[in-house]
Amino acid sequence: MEPYAEVVESYRRFADEASDSPTFADWSRAVAEDPEVVEWIRALPALKQQPNLVLAAARWHGVAAPGPYAGFRDALLGDDGSIVDTIMSRSTQTNEVGRLATLVPAFAQLAAGSGRPLALLEVGASAGLCLYPDAWGYEWTTEAGPVRLGEAPYLPCRVSGDAPLPTALPEVAWRGGIDLNPLDVTDEDAMAWLENLVWPEQDERRARLREAVRRARTSPPELHRGDLLTDLPALVEEATAHGTVVVFHSAVIAYLEPADRLRFDTMIRDMVGDGVCHWVSNEGKQVLESVTATGPAIPPDHPTFVLGVDGQMVARTHGHGRSMRWTA
Ligand SMILES: C[S@@+](CC[C@H](N)C(=O)[O-])C[C@H]1O[C@@H](n2cnc3c(N)ncnc32)[C@H](O)[C@@H]1O
Repeated sequence: MEPYAEVVESYRRFADEASDSPTFADWSRAVAEDPEVVEWIRALPALKQQPNLVLAAARWHGVAAPGPYAGFRDALLGDDGSIVDTIMSRSTQTNEVGRLATLVPAFAQLAAGSGRPLALLEVGASAGLCLYPDAWGYEWTTEAGPVRLGEAPYLPCRVSGDAPLPTALPEVAWRGGIDLNPLDVTDEDAMAWLENLVWPEQDERRARLREAVRRARTSPPELHRGDLLTDLPALVEEATAHGTVVVFHSAVIAYLEPADRLRFDTMIRDMVGDGVCHWVSNEGKQVLESVTATGPAIPPDHPTFVLGVDGQMVARTHGHGRSMRWTA
């Protein structure tokens, strides 16, 4: 693909995905129409050109958001190197516990099928905040009315389709994660960066992130620095003694090169086939094509995540867990 078109296309696509953040939708759309800014972004390495990272880095250096596009533009074009430094030294490790509202029905199905507690192993865990599905309440708004599980604070999610909403929180006997750069929940700077990654206008997400960090600090997750492509089998082996192993990931596989996505797909399918673990995937619809292909066709202009259980698509999900359409 022609690289210039790639930047324009990815910022246009992001404007659609970020429709619930008017500032980022507006800035991102404006970038796609602004050759000078596109040129500035093109000078970055490919993986660093992503909208989430560039927009967050500008905010980190004081650009007001919400605020006018001109503030963002002037900051990039007048950068003394500090914004570029941030872009190069940090990454988009957005850790969104809201996604648990869409993951929990899948976890519950697997737990019910096995009759054992879960050993949860998250690849691409960031700070590990999604490793505590049993620590939250859930409020699923269905076509028949609200369904609540557990105690407040509730993670809210609009649900359509025949979703198997659980009536009990999953029992988790063991939890662990792998990340290229695990974030320490007690590290103030790392947590400030996580907060900075939450889009402007999304105060509810910011408050939830603070609460998730506060909770995780009482019993920090066991996170391993490593690459999911090489370090997963050893951790699966460790987890096996504790319960039904569920390897899961959300918004992670997109960071792998296309060939590595396929390597991961083959590796995890082999592990599921050998009965050593189950697999819950929650990724953009284009990321794991083998999973997306097992479900009903998704309109090309509809940005969505796809939730998969053992390689079968079961639902379309909102990228931050705000809604879920069960399709299985
Ligand atoms: C956008 S964050 C998602 C975090 C978390 N899964 C969630 O849903 O909130 C993606 C994470 O994947 C990690 N990651 C990317 N490639 C990886 C790899 N090859 N091995 C392990 N972790 C990886 C990144 O470091 C980052 O923390």
